Amino acid sequence: MGEPLLPVKCRIKGLRPMPEVAEIINSKELKTLIKGALGRYLTCMEEAVSTNTLASGLCEKGALHGTVVIADSQTRGRGRLGRSWISPPGVNIYMSLILKPSMEPKEVVLLTLMAAVACANALTKETGLKVEIKWPNDLMVQDKKLGGILTESRSLHGKMTSAIIGLGLNVNIGMEVLPAEIRGIATSVKAETGIEYSRVRLIAAILNSMDFWYNRLLKAERTAVLEEWKKLNSTLGRPVSVFIGAEALKGIAEDIDEEGMLLVRLPTGSLKRIMAGDINHLRTETT
Ligand code: BTN
Repeated sequence: MGEPLLPVKCRIKGLRPMPEVAEIINSKELKTLIKGALGRYLTCMEEAVSTNTLASGLCEKGALHGTVVIADSQTRGRGRLGRSWISPPGVNIYMSLILKPSMEPKEVVLLTLMAAVACANALTKETGLKVEIKWPNDLMVQDKKLGGILTESRSLHGKMTSAIIGLGLNVNIGMEVLPAEIRGIATSVKAETGIEYSRVRLIAAILNSMDFWYNRLLKAERTAVLEEWKKLNSTLGRPVSVFIGAEALKGIAEDIDEEGMLLVRLPTGSLKRIMAGDINHLRTETT
């Protein structure tokens, strides 16, 4: 086995590493809890612009499969579809994982679904919460967003060369500190359970779960991942509106296909394959 590319604590230009004393996210404890290959190379920062951006830079410098970057806060955390991700210090998880999968570029959606399955399973096991997945990768509790996943991949000559899976998870944040416009649609583990959770334990549980589900995906057990996603999702069977750029479509979310794309039955009867975009769950109309 090669030497870790990065030591547990390291200094990266422009970013402050965690202080030696009273480390905010205890990387030594975390190392002891990580069982698999994901998280073998670990960097814990006090602050990052965005852990995905940092991971992407590390990838360019040759970071190895399984490298994980964690920050206590982000100054410009990024969400899907160009949104920002609110990332205050001391309360949440902001983490990016570098994978080097042997996959085709179009299979990137499968990685995202796999990551959502892994996170939902780990969180349910650790907290007892019923965590559901809203297509493709929102982690939801009682229809409120607990976390989100941003997957960014690179390809060369028709092969995926790396993928970065970024996870933002609301752990101990109080709802009162969230901006008013998202207070009604977001939640945190603490808000749901009334209990403050160790971020280190949750990170370890998520990485261990990710290791298990990623290996299933690689071992051609794609169907098992898709079946688990279907078991955990809260989208299929529901009326949805789909936003693709400025266009909005309404229909019933019928299924996902073998590549993880959402299949929506439109009122015309035709089936629309959704590759990316934003969906809203609509209320089922009652008479
Ligand atoms: C979403 O829009 O639901 C995805 C949010 C992903 C946020 C995480 S936080 C860690 C990583 N770094 C980022 O800048 N974004 C992701």
